[in-house]
Amino acid sequence: MKVAVVGATGMVGEVMLNILEERNFPFTELMLVASERSVGKEITFKNKTHKIIGLAEAVSKKPNIAFFSAGGATSLEWAPKFEAVGTTVIDNSSAYRMDASKKLIVPEINAGQLTKDDKIIANPNCSTTQMVMVLAPLHKKYKIKRIVVSTYQSITGTGVKAVKQLENELAGVKGEMAYPYPINKNVIPHCDVFEENGYTKEEMKLVRETQKILDDRSIAVTATAVRVPTQGGHSEAVNIEFENDFDLTEVRKLLSQTPGVVVQDNLDVNTYPMPIYANGKDDVFVGRIRRDESQPNTLNLWIVSDNLRKGAATNTIQIAEHLIKNNLV
Ligand SMILES: NC(=O)c1ccc[n+]([C@@H]2O[C@H](COP(=O)([O-])OP(=O)(O)OC[C@H]3O[C@@H](n4cnc5c(N)ncnc54)[C@H](OP(=O)(O)O)[C@@H]3O)[C@@H](O)[C@H]2O)c1
Repeated sequence: MKVAVVGATGMVGEVMLNILEERNFPFTELMLVASERSVGKEITFKNKTHKIIGLAEAVSKKPNIAFFSAGGATSLEWAPKFEAVGTTVIDNSSAYRMDASKKLIVPEINAGQLTKDDKIIANPNCSTTQMVMVLAPLHKKYKIKRIVVSTYQSITGTGVKAVKQLENELAGVKGEMAYPYPINKNVIPHCDVFEENGYTKEEMKLVRETQKILDDRSIAVTATAVRVPTQGGHSEAVNIEFENDFDLTEVRKLLSQTPGVVVQDNLDVNTYPMPIYANGKDDVFVGRIRRDESQPNTLNLWIVSDNLRKGAATNTIQIAEHLIKNNLV
């Protein structure tokens, strides 16, 4: 099993390497790939020094699996070149997510769709993954009609440049800006670029990717995505209207039995999910579970998860583990 990590020097790439080590992911050769700027630099993994290589060299080595997290343009140009030499690409960018010929996978929900023929597999957007992890079992049981979601997204979701911007602001140093405004002591209602309809691309990912993963285009979704100066993970206030009524005790039980989801909801001792505690964990945390008293069959939830883990690297590696376990690669 030869494995390539494309974008190994980035925020997601670094977490990917940690998780490969933690989970003892089986491989015989590891290729660390980044842009030409980084070629030749060294990264230590499991006490072994690896030199960063370029994309062309990685293709020539024909890895069995390539984990891509190097931006959409890199994926669009290079994933097909890896595919052509027989590599299975699992892509973290938005390049292939809404491509009808590509599958968009959260293993706990829809890994069963994967076959040997899937050579480019898309990993969902971080804010969508954590939301559908909680919503999938509820949709199955009560059928979702409409979702209203507001996100509070970590700066780590923007990559190394954004973390540097906050560090610079905290140190009072002028530097390169990842955002159009200061992020320290601020919230910015603008994640990714604006689309023609006035929503951001991040907001529309929550709409389109949710419908694709839950395999139900009838689910109405409306989103507001906001950047906040936190680092441990993304948080989301989610309002869900169901076709059928629910029982709150049953909702809590259902969620606490869902693999990968942890219920943190005890108001007596102020227990609810928060990003500083989700940081570094693979689970999706849910709390503030309560009925929306303003209309029937409607639930309010607060969902938090480490965007670099379940929102990106962990989910990608879980897809690869599923492929290996089922002889699909
Ligand atoms: N951060 C998140 O929470 C998150 C979640 C889900 C998905 N994603 C997606 O994952 C991708 C990476 O995000 P990130 O946050 O890790 O970004 P990042 O910290 O900015 O890292 C980008 C990585 O891509 C590499 N890269 C950039 N241009 C390249 C090129 N032309 N050829 C080869 N490698 C290139 C960089 O290499 P150099 O160091 O050499 O520049 C670096 O390793 C993006 O597509 C993003 O949308 C991110």
